[in-house]
Amino acid sequence: MSTLSPVSLTTENDIAIITIDHPPINATSHAVRLGIWDAIDQVNRDDTIRAAILICAGSTFIAGADVTEFGKPPLDPILPDLILKLEQSTKPLIAAIHGNALGGGLEVALGCHYRIATATAKLGLPEVNLGLIPGAGGTVRLPRLIAVENAIAMITGGKPVNAVTARDYGLIDEIADGDLRIAALALAERIKTDPCPTALIDRAPVNAPDTDGWDALIAGIGKKARGQDAPVIASQTIRAAVTGDARTALGLERENFVRLRDSDQSKALRHIFFAERSVAKLPELAGVDPRPLHEIGVIGGGIMGAGIATAALLAGYAVVMIERDDDACERGIANVRHHLGGSLKRGIITQSRHDQLLGDLVSSTDYAALANCDLVIEAVFEDMAVKHDVFAKLSAHCKSDAVLASNTSYLDIDAIATACTHPERVIGLHFFSPAHVMKLLEVVRTRLASSVTLATALAFAKRLGKIAVPCGVCDGFIGNRIMSAYRKHCEYMLEDGSLPSDIDRAMTNFGFPMGLFAMQDMAGLEISWATRKRLAPTRDPNERYVALGDYLCEMGRFGRKNGLGWYRYDEHGKAFLDPVVDELVIAESAKKGIKRRPFSDAEIIETILSAMQAEGEKILAEGIAHSSDAIDVVMVNGYGFPRHKGGPMHLKNTA
Ligand code: NAI
Repeated sequence: MSTLSPVSLTTENDIAIITIDHPPINATSHAVRLGIWDAIDQVNRDDTIRAAILICAGSTFIAGADVTEFGKPPLDPILPDLILKLEQSTKPLIAAIHGNALGGGLEVALGCHYRIATATAKLGLPEVNLGLIPGAGGTVRLPRLIAVENAIAMITGGKPVNAVTARDYGLIDEIADGDLRIAALALAERIKTDPCPTALIDRAPVNAPDTDGWDALIAGIGKKARGQDAPVIASQTIRAAVTGDARTALGLERENFVRLRDSDQSKALRHIFFAERSVAKLPELAGVDPRPLHEIGVIGGGIMGAGIATAALLAGYAVVMIERDDDACERGIANVRHHLGGSLKRGIITQSRHDQLLGDLVSSTDYAALANCDLVIEAVFEDMAVKHDVFAKLSAHCKSDAVLASNTSYLDIDAIATACTHPERVIGLHFFSPAHVMKLLEVVRTRLASSVTLATALAFAKRLGKIAVPCGVCDGFIGNRIMSAYRKHCEYMLEDGSLPSDIDRAMTNFGFPMGLFAMQDMAGLEISWATRKRLAPTRDPNERYVALGDYLCEMGRFGRKNGLGWYRYDEHGKAFLDPVVDELVIAESAKKGIKRRPFSDAEIIETILSAMQAEGEKILAEGIAHSSDAIDVVMVNGYGFPRHKGGPMHLKNTA
């Protein structure tokens, strides 16, 4: 090993400690692979060494591959060969895991004979998230260590597991009690004289399903994947690895990995992965310090206000919620309690944390309670007069440097800002529903907003774990504006010959979780009806207008909530086609003298994509979005655009 190697070898009596120190994530770069290779040679050559521990410096175990080596010819030793070498070591190897053992990192750990992890460690094979499958034996070794069914879930779902689950699965031998290095040394002492356990590659799979079980599993994964190839190919690769010869399966895994790596889907997924990580990095904010935030105010405890308050509490802020009267205060608190109860049920928080977070929330009808808030987010009715009234009160009661944000969906935040004292502190924070769950947050920069205000909003978003997309003020910002544009074209298609179910089917076949009309039913039809009525006086009389949505509301069909919308719903919320709606659509075409014609799925999708892309171009030209990546990130994270297609602008840019 050269002195510059990121891998070092020390000994503690007869135990070797191989330490990888390659910040930030101890990636499996060439120098790391080479260093481990040499260290294993040394361990096996040295008769005084009885066992070895593979451990990492810094904040994590090996958490992935080196992205700078992507697309370059691989340098020896490649990872699959290194893992075979680990397995063949005649001295037992222990992987000591803290932080994340992800992708190639977990595959390295699978090459070791024992695994020990800290209580906070996460272990996973997340390759499917980038349209890939594990490429260094993960599909072959994991189902030989843990039950095949669990291995399939981990590999096709791409979600890491925590240490407790890992121990329950048998993925790790133990959770370190206290210091990891000391616990790993104690484990080494216990096993150093035992015969080396059989390498995973030579073991039988654990609880392999029978043929029918496999068919059902793969069919289920195909359905869930909604057109994404990687989970399906992963499940087929695991099946081949479990039912056939393990060494042959390593070759098949590699072939499938390479095929997927070169696919459009993987390129799209990598595009969106990197776009999400860069979209909030604005060069003009370099050196601008965000204002520190401790206490957050939320105005309104309805659908959005309660969700926002929950998100802020979960991020560790104290929250003051303002409502109109005592009953509304109680409802707001009950809404937050309901959300926190959900987090408790899903194991995201413990009971004591749940109770503590509820204690961090106060509600009041008195705006004076906001006196110590550093950031206040308004989420009251979508009505300009109400918003003006609220912001006037905020101007009067909040600290003069408190950042004031509006969650409005469509209203002009510049107009709201100019009516405030210190308008440079006013910004839009457009959350998506449910606000404590949805990752996307449009950060709307008002005309007068200062850099500090913007930097503070972005820092807040980061602390909440959101994907923040900076954008400018316009009707609907990025996402709702693009949705309005393509919705219009969907409505034209209804009058020209499609039925709502045709459009929804084409969209779900393309990969959307639901079609436009099913989504409208879910959101409720009366909200957009109210917006259309509000905008009616300013509508261009020469522009084509489709009134079908208005007719539905006039008929009292408001969507899922009352069982009738574009579809009919039973008491369990299951949707059915409703001939009444189809007749209404067909009659409207006749009324307007339009001769209906069929639309193929491909034509429907082409129409939708073109509408999205054309509006996206306008949004870029107007500077509302700073890059086409920003548009893709919004559409993928807020509007169900299939992630494996990379977003509408990615499709346009790579066509
Ligand atoms: P909501 O009707 O569920 O809640 C509004 C709450 O504000 C009510 O609890 C009401 O009592 C309270 N309120 C009204 N005037 C008030 C005042 N002067 N002072 C204190 N509290 C007051 O409405 P929702 O859906 O939460 O929407 C709130 C805002 O968020 C709107 O601007 C909406 O456009 C926006 N938005 C809504 C989304 C959604 O999916 N519902 C998504 C993104 C933004």
